[in-house]
Amino acid sequence: MKISRSTSLPLDKFIELALYDKDSGYYMKKNPFGKEGDFITAPNITRLFSEIIAIWIITFWKSIGSPKKFNLIELGAGNGEMLKVITETLKNFPECFNTCYFIIHEKSNFLINQQQKNLKSEKISWEKDIKNINSYPTLYLANEFFDAIPIKQFFKKKEGWFERYVNLENSNVKFTEKKIDITKLEKNINFEISKNQNIIEYSPEAFQYLKDICKIIEKNDGGMLIIDYGYLNSKMHETLQAINNHKHSNVLENIGDSDITYNINFNLFQKFTNQFDNLNSIVTNQKKFLTSMGILQRAEIVSKNIPFSKKTDLFYRIRRLLDEKQMGELFKVMLIKKIKNRFKTGFQVD
Ligand SMILES: C[S@@+](CC[C@H](N)C(=O)[O-])C[C@H]1O[C@@H](n2cnc3c(N)ncnc32)[C@H](O)[C@@H]1O
Repeated sequence: MKISRSTSLPLDKFIELALYDKDSGYYMKKNPFGKEGDFITAPNITRLFSEIIAIWIITFWKSIGSPKKFNLIELGAGNGEMLKVITETLKNFPECFNTCYFIIHEKSNFLINQQQKNLKSEKISWEKDIKNINSYPTLYLANEFFDAIPIKQFFKKKEGWFERYVNLENSNVKFTEKKIDITKLEKNINFEISKNQNIIEYSPEAFQYLKDICKIIEKNDGGMLIIDYGYLNSKMHETLQAINNHKHSNVLENIGDSDITYNINFNLFQKFTNQFDNLNSIVTNQKKFLTSMGILQRAEIVSKNIPFSKKTDLFYRIRRLLDEKQMGELFKVMLIKKIKNRFKTGFQVD
């Protein structure tokens, strides 16, 4: 990729280049999803996933008083598959559908093009700056969005805290580190991040998104549904990884041709959003969310009149979403909402 080979970059700047460089960034030049790509996401495993999200959206819309105007914003929409099925499903519920403005916030022009093809029969608009959508109650959908946002890493040693850098000098790409003043950083972001930690993984850009969105929810009502792989333990650990052709690969190899991702610390996200006086959040895992929303019953209905082989395939796909060894436990579902909204649909099961 086109980067100066005499550079040493903080990890987040390196990831930004590897994933989003205008010419050679991973998300900017090809479709990463599905069999031909490097990984598969839930909406591309089975459309039932997005149908369930659509039903959940209707119940959430009702919980905020069935507003007459309502923004539904998908953050990072990939190939557009999820929003396509959501709009198709919501059409069966015109009292909700007719109130919705469907909006996509997407960074990759290549993927915007794919989304426009996939969603050509739907009324969707694209918005590069989420702060521009600042009126009416708004629901943000973020399926595997935050794991694609660059992170910084910090490691605690005897001598203090060190930030991870990537040294790109010559052809010998390697990790290096620089000593930093963590209290200065905490002052800058006005958030204590290092307490009881030996490793910190955090994304300044993700925090900025959370801050901007929480402010808008506080002002206009609404919520954010985050579905992503991650963990709840307050103690952070190292989760940075690269994926190439459905397998783990080396973060420093195939730069621009592998996805670089990490596991969200949902405890940190909750702590961060708790700073907003009028908001709270609830979390469950994907298995509990989808089963409590009736995905298995829906699969039974859908598969009544289809050949046995297709039925087997459908249940195989659903098992992939629900199995605790696959996506069921690794993926968490978090809802950020106003405290006064006691909505719990999809989050009740323990
Ligand atoms: C892992 S993919 C998930 C795609 C889709 N949500 C799905 O589940 O199939 C991450 C998506 O987020 C987009 N993305 C990453 N950073 C972004 C940003 N800062 N603003 C908007 N979109 C972004 C990527 O281009 C890609 O479409």
